[in-house]
Amino acid sequence: MKLVIAIIQSDKMKDVKQALRNVKVGKITVSDVIGCGAQVGKTDTCDGIITEGNLLERVRFEIAVNDDYVKPTLEAIIEGARTGNIGDGKIFIVQLEECIRIRTGESGRLAIG
Ligand SMILES: Nc1ncnc2c1ncn2[C@@H]1O[C@H](COP(=O)(O)OP(=O)(O)OP(=O)(O)O)[C@@H](O)[C@H]1O
Ligand SMILES: [Mg+2]
Repeated sequence: MKLVIAIIQSDKMKDVKQALRNVKVGKITVSDVIGCGAQVGKTDTCDGIITEGNLLERVRFEIAVNDDYVKPTLEAIIEGARTGNIGDGKIFIVQLEECIRIRTGESGRLAIG
């Protein structure tokens, strides 16, 4: 099991959500976050402002998936979020120890899927 974390441009949230739905990934958590990437002290053309240490608004997706869903999940995020410009975002993949559905007590593959 993996936890896929994606930090993307806020205006790409709907496109990523739809791309995930297209590959049957529907269980997601989305948060508003702020952050900065590699362009500290330079002009981030996506936002059109100087990012001198500025924390810019982004959206964070958290998606826990079974291993066979990692690839389609990554492809969907990239399809939905990529423009080719700086600031498109980043994806982190974390080994996931366990998942438990509180209502039933199910764990692992059954709880995620
Ligand atoms: N190494 C990192 N650790 C934690 N968060 C990060 C990291 N890199 C990027 N982020 C987060 O992702 C957001 C988007 O990053 P961004 O796409 O600008 O990355 P980048 O490395 O600057 O790549 P690019 O050159 O394409 O802009 C940042 O605002 C920040 O919230
Ligand atoms: Mg950047």
